[in-house]
Amino acid sequence: MRLKNKIAIVTGGASGFGEGIAIRFAKEGCKVVINDINKSGGEAVAKNVRSNGGEAIFVEGDISTNDGWKVLVSRTLEEYQSFNIVVNNAGFTHKNQSMFTVPEEDFDRIYSVNVKSLYWSVKNVTPVLENSDGAVMITVASVAGIRPRPGLTWYNGSKAAAIITSRSMAVELAPKKIRVNVINPVMGETAMLEDFMGMEDTPENREKFLSTIPLGRLARASDVANAALYLASDEAELITGACIEVDGGRTI
Ligand SMILES: NC(=O)c1ccc[n+]([C@@H]2O[C@H](COP(=O)([O-])OP(=O)(O)OC[C@H]3O[C@@H](n4cnc5c(N)ncnc54)[C@H](O)[C@@H]3O)[C@@H](O)[C@H]2O)c1
Repeated sequence: MRLKNKIAIVTGGASGFGEGIAIRFAKEGCKVVINDINKSGGEAVAKNVRSNGGEAIFVEGDISTNDGWKVLVSRTLEEYQSFNIVVNNAGFTHKNQSMFTVPEEDFDRIYSVNVKSLYWSVKNVTPVLENSDGAVMITVASVAGIRPRPGLTWYNGSKAAAIITSRSMAVELAPKKIRVNVINPVMGETAMLEDFMGMEDTPENREKFLSTIPLGRLARASDVANAALYLASDEAELITGACIEVDGGRTI
C-alpha cells in the first residue's frame, strides 16, 4: 500500500487518465475525491472504487472557477478532514485544425481549464497542503507543451504554460514543503483522442500517429496512473519541479 493513510483530490476523474489515477490510488490505500463536470461519469467511478473495497466520493464542479475549487475543498474537508495530494488532471482541447479557425470561446475555455485552473487550485489547496504531511500537487500537462503537433496550436501553448507554471509553483511552494510535479503523456486512448487526431479513429489513421512514437503505442490510463503513483508517494519525497514524459519516446 504505497498511499496508505493519504487523501487525494483528482480533477477530471470521471474518465480517461483521471479515472485511471483515482482507481490506482484507491488500490494503494488512498481515499480519493473525484471531481468532474461529468456527474454521472464521476459518480460511476466513485461507486466502482467503493465496490472494490476502496474509499471515494464524487464532487461535481468546474475547476476553472474559484467556486468550483471552494466546493471541492470544503466537501473534501467535510468528508476526510484533510488531504495530501492534488492531481490537476482535468483538461480541454480544440479539435485539430488550423489555428485561424479555432473560435475565441474555445481558446478561452482551453486557457481556463488547462491554465487558470492552476491559479484557483493553488490558492484554494495551499492552506490545507501546508499543514499536511507528504503534500504534493501533480499537473497532468502533455507532450504537446514540449513537442507541438500542428493543428493543436492553442492547446499546445496552454500545456506549455501549465508545465512552466507548475515548475514555478514548485519553487514557491518548496518552503512550505509542498512538492509540485508534472506528467506529460503522449496521445492516449481516451475521449480526447479523436480531437487530437482531427480525424476518425480508424486503424489506418491511428498508424500515422503510432509511427511518430518510438515505442509504438498510445498512452494508457494505467501508464499515467503509475507515474502519478510514484510522484504522489513518499518514494518521491525529494522530487519537485520534475516533468515525467510518459510518451514512449515521442519527445526525444
Ligand atoms: N488523451 C490524450 O491524448 C492526452 C495526452 C496528453 C495529455 N492529456 C491530458 O490528460 C488530461 C486528462 O484527459 P483525458 O485524455 O483523460 O481525457 P478525458 O476527456 O477522458 O478526461 C478529461 C476529463 O476532464 C473533465 N473536465 C473537463 N473540463 C473540466 C472542468 N472545467 N472541471 C472539471 N472537470 C473537467 C472532463 O469531463 C473529463 O472527464 C487532460 O489534461 C488532457 O489535456 C491527454
